[in-house]
Amino acid sequence: MQRYVTVATCLASLVAAQTYTFPDCVNGPLASNKVCDRLATPSERAAALVAALEPTEKLQNIIRSAKGAPRIGLPAYNWWNEALHGVAYSPNVTFADEPPFDSATSFPMPLLMAATFDDELIERVGDIVGKEARAWGNYGYSGIDFWTPNVNPFRDPRWGRGSETPGEDALQVSRYAAAMVRGLEGYKSERRIVATCKHYAGNDFEDWGGSTRHDFDAKITLQDLAEYHLLPFQQCARDSKVGSIMCAYNAVNGVPSCANEYLLQTVLREHWNWTENNNHVTSDCEAVYDVWGNHHYASSNAEGTAMCFNAGTDNSCEYQVSSDIPGAWEQGLLTEDVVDRSLLRSFEALVHAGYFDGAHSAYATLNASDVNTPEAQDLALQTAVDGIVLLKNDEDTLPLDLSPGANIAMIGFWASDSSKVIGGYSGNPPFTRSPAYAAEDMGFTVHSATGPVLESNDAPDNWTADALAAAEKSDYILYFGGLDTSAAGEEKDRYSLEWPEAQRTLLGALSGLSKPLVVVQLGDQLDDTELLEMKEINSIMWASWPGQDGGTAVMKLITGAASPAGRLPVTQYPASYADAIPLTDMNLRPSGSYPGRTYRWYLTPVQGYGFGLHYTTFKPSFGSSPASLSIQELVAECEMPYPDTCPLPPLHVKVANEGKRISDYVALAFIAGEFGPEPYPIKTLGAYARLRGIEPGTDAEAELAWKLGDLARRDEDGNTVLYPGTYTVMLDEPVKATMEFELTGEPAILDKWPAPN
Ligand SMILES: *[C@@H]1O[C@H](CO)[C@@H](O)[C@H](O)[C@H]1NC(C)=O
Ligand SMILES: *[C@@H]1O[C@H](CO)[C@@H](O)[C@H](O)[C@H]1NC(C)=O
Ligand SMILES: *[C@@H]1O[C@H](CO)[C@@H](O)[C@H](O)[C@H]1NC(C)=O
Ligand SMILES: *[C@@H]1O[C@H](CO)[C@@H](O)[C@H](O)[C@H]1NC(C)=O
Repeated sequence: MQRYVTVATCLASLVAAQTYTFPDCVNGPLASNKVCDRLATPSERAAALVAALEPTEKLQNIIRSAKGAPRIGLPAYNWWNEALHGVAYSPNVTFADEPPFDSATSFPMPLLMAATFDDELIERVGDIVGKEARAWGNYGYSGIDFWTPNVNPFRDPRWGRGSETPGEDALQVSRYAAAMVRGLEGYKSERRIVATCKHYAGNDFEDWGGSTRHDFDAKITLQDLAEYHLLPFQQCARDSKVGSIMCAYNAVNGVPSCANEYLLQTVLREHWNWTENNNHVTSDCEAVYDVWGNHHYASSNAEGTAMCFNAGTDNSCEYQVSSDIPGAWEQGLLTEDVVDRSLLRSFEALVHAGYFDGAHSAYATLNASDVNTPEAQDLALQTAVDGIVLLKNDEDTLPLDLSPGANIAMIGFWASDSSKVIGGYSGNPPFTRSPAYAAEDMGFTVHSATGPVLESNDAPDNWTADALAAAEKSDYILYFGGLDTSAAGEEKDRYSLEWPEAQRTLLGALSGLSKPLVVVQLGDQLDDTELLEMKEINSIMWASWPGQDGGTAVMKLITGAASPAGRLPVTQYPASYADAIPLTDMNLRPSGSYPGRTYRWYLTPVQGYGFGLHYTTFKPSFGSSPASLSIQELVAECEMPYPDTCPLPPLHVKVANEGKRISDYVALAFIAGEFGPEPYPIKTLGAYARLRGIEPGTDAEAELAWKLGDLARRDEDGNTVLYPGTYTVMLDEPVKATMEFELTGEPAILDKWPAPN
């Protein structure tokens, strides 16, 4: 949902201070209810509360804007709170007019965070967002559940919401989910906030070619479903035991996700053992209505509504249109047992977050001094610096060796517009800094000119005249182009992967000046082929949406105050890809003229997943590793309930910094081999780590952790299987070192995937 933003923004200025209260477990009528008894078990506490509710009250509490029950002192609770990369505008998040709850730290978009390939960093970001979010809740400015993270893998470059995700690789998305959920929910038995992994499942397009997410039926093979679309949710539910999952708008193989018993019951609650009642499933907003209204899967709204609750959705997010809970109840389609099940799950999730514990909650003391801390602001900057990817750097043009006061032309639509760096699903950051602001702050003389985002009605000469005037006064030209959120966002997919014509024209004019020319690209990937070929363009950097301090991050890298080490978390496709494959075709594997998707199957990218240049020269190599491992021994030694989570002997890697600058290095280990159900010459990510601060002339070593599941493949039924064979492990993109090892013995099923009925 995006349309609410304007509504929420208006509300924020009308609603005075506190809009939200915790239950009063000391003096209120609820104090005598067992839900307030901290010595009882969470499920006893939730059960006592549900038992005290009348049927009418029950029905008013399985919706997003839950009414509570004033009769017994249960306050209203609104489940819709957002915090994708910082506390964000949403119906129940308020930004006050005055400090301290007027602004929250805004990190880069998740796609750029993923480009750091640093799980520990992601977890620290989650920890800060979780602290700020709970402080928000403690002081009445939000609820204590938040609809983050978005863990649908970025399947197609045109998807408008891809930058909300950690990229196209299912293993990377899963590791991001693990780190982010751990950070957000905190480190005590109580949850600091209830995190929500979304959108379950297969929600990775908005509105394209006559279909929308509200009526789309995603046809997904069991192999792709288990291996790709559901892997991050397995991490969230089974391994991270996240507090909440959001079911998606779209249908999967004919059944709308929120009415999908196979997804919500068979896989989520049974196969992944997400059984305890301390978690719940919320619907995306209007997804319950969509079952009848857009999927036509039910004969009435009431029937569609009942199907969702019966299948395992526990809360209906109503927005501009509503589901029909009263109708479902009156017609006997929705029983009290099912309503109680939903209430028990939802209230127990709140019990687990200390909602009924007042000052005794483990997180009751989080407050304004935990918001916008210097540590948080440093981390927002560091995350952007660490994520930004250097895509071209001919003749080591970057870093620019700028003398104090150097004249720099800063041209393009976001050169001096600080509102552009934030990205979607944002709140109100304490500040936003454009590149021009940062350059002036560093003492340079900036000559700025704006530029077009998309095609513009103005004659190209209009932009060009200003730009050339700025460039002529300068010794260096920095061009800030790419896409802003008007080109790709919620309810908006792209049709083209080309650089906008108006920007190419402007760049063409600038390239005629024979001055160092650096392109810094905002937003999602574009086909850079032409820019990579143009000799006049010396360097290209991709900055995604770099967050509140994005301008500073860019200038630190351009001046060499920091060294780039981010890697692409997505494939950069040629523009022709958009004609070769419909966005709505979910298949990942190539067949005939169908080119396949992601680096695993699409082999001719412009720049590959994992690509990224440095200011120094790294030489990576493998250390010693076992030449052969027995599958049966690995499995026999494994003591975890889920064998795919058992560790493999770590991969030993070494990297020498043979250049002149200190830099981080992201070690990426891919695996390939031909085994299993398909000849499989294609590589998959197996392990990665970010090695920090490697000094010139020194070596760094690391043990990359990986698990049996990272080596396994999914067969056509979705089973996770470890196959015998020769495995090639490859370091880096493009490959800089290889190593082989043998898995011996018989194939072993690590996880038997449940078949749909
Ligand atoms: C938050 O939700 C509560 C309960 O639904 C409501 O009373 C309050 O107005 C909401 N706050 C905002 C800012 O919408
Ligand atoms: C499944 O969850 C239950 C309840 O939390 C737990 O007792 C059991 O050990 C879990 N099973 C596995 C295989 O983890
Ligand atoms: C506010 O938070 C700070 C830092 O976490 C803590 O030291 C202080 O005790 C808190 N104050 C209150 C009133 O909870
Ligand atoms: C170019 O067009 C924009 C938007 O119409 C306008 O604001 C600006 O003044 C024009 N610049 C020149 C140099 O004509």
